[in-house]
Amino acid sequence: MKFNPKTVTLKNRKEVRIRTAEISDAENLLATLKKYISDSAFIPKTSNEIIITVEQERDWISSFIQKDNSLLLVAEFENEIIGNIDLTGNPRIMMQHTAIIGMGMLTDWRNVGLGTEFMKSSIDWAKENPMLELLLLQVYCENISAIYLYKKMGFKENGIVENYFKNGEEYHDNLMMSLVVK
Ligand SMILES: CC(C)(COP(=O)(O)OP(=O)(O)OC[C@H]1O[C@@H](n2cnc3c(N)ncnc32)[C@H](O)[C@@H]1OP(=O)(O)O)[C@@H](O)C(=O)NCCC(=O)NCCS
Repeated sequence: MKFNPKTVTLKNRKEVRIRTAEISDAENLLATLKKYISDSAFIPKTSNEIIITVEQERDWISSFIQKDNSLLLVAEFENEIIGNIDLTGNPRIMMQHTAIIGMGMLTDWRNVGLGTEFMKSSIDWAKENPMLELLLLQVYCENISAIYLYKKMGFKENGIVENYFKNGEEYHDNLMMSLVVK
């Protein structure tokens, strides 16, 4: 289902374009992902795991374009991709009414309302999507601003899986959250 692109004004008064990712974004999006993942304590990926090729990134973008229950949005400012949100729809027939949300953005663009705009856009799209009924996400229990944002958007807490993330000898708990969009 098509997403209608939109321009939003953030708390820093900058105007940002939110639109569907295209295959031609692969190189820029990959560069942005690499920057923000290594800058975030709350994305469970090591630097080795984010070194993927532009070709693999193209395939990843393409998978969202092909699946009716999935969406990949990017935010753009002055021709730079500054962040993304993805709804990965479940391919299994009994769970294809569900999608898992992931999101992130460059450090300079955090806490100025982009996450809120990404979430609003995705939830509105999911509500219109005839396949989707339930959105899910997982978040580090220490990720206070993210949890605040998800609750503001209506997500409810489903439970905590203790010690789900392990970084060397350091463990972190995982909060599961969900939102009905039926
Ligand atoms: C988590 C993330 C996606 C949130 O996006 P964002 O654009 O920073 O979020 P927003 O600015 O829209 O909203 C954050 C909210 O948290 C609030 N907040 C920030 N710090 C807070 C704190 N310590 N306690 C309570 N609320 C806090 C802000 O006031 C804001 O709410 P408001 O708009 O109602 O005032 C972003 O910070 C990010 O990319 N972080 C790194 C990657 C990551 O953690 N991804 C999520 C994985 S689940």
